[in-house]
Amino acid sequence: MDNIEAIKLRHSVRDYSDKPVEGETLLELATIIDECNKVSGLHLQLVRNEPKAFDSALAHYGKFSGVCNYIALVGRSMPEYAEKCGYYGEKIVIEAQKMGLNTCWVALTFKKMPNAYKIRAGEKLYGVIAVGYGNSSGWPHRSKKAEKVSNLNDDSPEWFKKGVEAALLAPTAMNQQKFRLTLIGNKVEARAGFGPYSTVDLGIVKYHFELGSGKGREVWR
Ligand SMILES: Cc1cc2nc3c(=O)[nH]c(=O)nc-3n(C[C@H](O)[C@H](O)[C@H](O)COP(=O)(O)O)c2cc1C
Repeated sequence: MDNIEAIKLRHSVRDYSDKPVEGETLLELATIIDECNKVSGLHLQLVRNEPKAFDSALAHYGKFSGVCNYIALVGRSMPEYAEKCGYYGEKIVIEAQKMGLNTCWVALTFKKMPNAYKIRAGEKLYGVIAVGYGNSSGWPHRSKKAEKVSNLNDDSPEWFKKGVEAALLAPTAMNQQKFRLTLIGNKVEARAGFGPYSTVDLGIVKYHFELGSGKGREVWR
């Protein structure tokens, strides 16, 4: 499965089977998390066999079931780290999808379990990503039109169109899709709108845009 296929097949999954994440898959997942921490300065941690975060009334309200593994999104308490959390968290999500795993970003409907991960001085928990083998592969979300989130028009280059399309497939908190992608010359300005977790969302959206457009980080204005 390539990145674009993974972007299209990824949907939030909230109902997991009891099949354990183990062997090669576990090793690969742990390796990608390690690599992301090294390049970003984040403190992302894989938490395994910990069902309590998703065993509360809040998690049931969020319709979660069978979650016992998640990635704790820990990083320094600064806006640039919120965006990094989104960018690198989604990189892990897409790699997990390619490994046959399912995921769900969760910022609200879970219970914090401070003994399950480490939060150093100056850091905070931005949320978690549930990970495991889903009982379904989820469903496509309702999406805004490209024109609502970007200045895409008939004259736009193909790479920008593909980038915007991939961005619209990104998970965002409450599916708010509050971002704006503006092509200016051959660079793109990415802005977060107002809304809860919109800076984390922006990082996620930028990762999708890069994969969809085939451009690297130098595309950003
Ligand atoms: C930063 C962030 C926080 C989220 N928090 C929650 C949450 O607390 N509970 C939940 O059920 N889903 C949560 N989600 C999942 C979104 O509801 C989901 O991504 C969105 O509806 C789009 O659906 P999709 O991921 O299937 O494409 C969150 C997503 C993001 C990106």
